[in-house]
Amino acid sequence: ENHLSTGLPLSTKKVLITAGPTYEALDPVRFLGNRSTGTMGYELAKCAADLGADVVLVSGPTNLSITHSNIRLVNVETAEEMYQAAHEHFKMMDFVISAAAVADYRPKNPSNQKLKKQPGNDFKLELERTKDILLSLGQEKENQFLVGFALETNNAIENAKAKLKKKNLDAIVLNTLEDEGAGFGRSTNKITFLDKKLSEKTFELKSKAEVASDIWAEIIARTHA
Ligand code: CTP
Ligand code: CA
Repeated sequence: ENHLSTGLPLSTKKVLITAGPTYEALDPVRFLGNRSTGTMGYELAKCAADLGADVVLVSGPTNLSITHSNIRLVNVETAEEMYQAAHEHFKMMDFVISAAAVADYRPKNPSNQKLKKQPGNDFKLELERTKDILLSLGQEKENQFLVGFALETNNAIENAKAKLKKKNLDAIVLNTLEDEGAGFGRSTNKITFLDKKLSEKTFELKSKAEVASDIWAEIIARTHA
């Protein structure tokens, strides 16, 4: 439906968004995860779809639901599955936003059977690094406008700039945790938007839907979409 221009800023454009946490199995019933709800990524997807884009939303496990004629939802569980799904769609994309809270490590030897308690008090779990999805997309980038997120507690701006460079991004959204109402599990967020020319723009604490709209406005202003 999107091959005819509708006058919307993202009509005819293809958008990939990763969202939510990943779950890394220890055994058939246990996993390592994190507190991401997926809200920020889903709001970014909804906003892009409302602006006319064709959206692929690659999502880790969440309680959210989304139905929009412009959004294709691809459900994944692990960092490895998210890596595969993101790479499968990357080439065709105009805009890519990595909003997922991807596990940095996973259990090295997940068990096929439910783990039993061992004698003694201690239990040692060996972990190994997952693939950095965004880093690999940055290495493959051609004309895609590539945006990452950064969650930092100290030296926030410096760390965000370093991630932007290292991952070959066009922009990065810094989640500032300084505010009580911002971030994981909250309905509001406070961000600083940084682009590769290192310009910075800090926004007020807002609903995640409004934050999504601010992010798209910044992206669209930096492209000729
Ligand atoms: N990211 C990713 N794949 C990973 C880890 C992170 O795609 N395996 C993406 C996130 O979606 C986010 C960006 O990379 O857009 C930054 O994630 P963050 O956790 O802030 O940084 P890391 O690069 O993982 O570094 P660290 O956690 O050590 O600060
Ligand atoms: Ca990380």
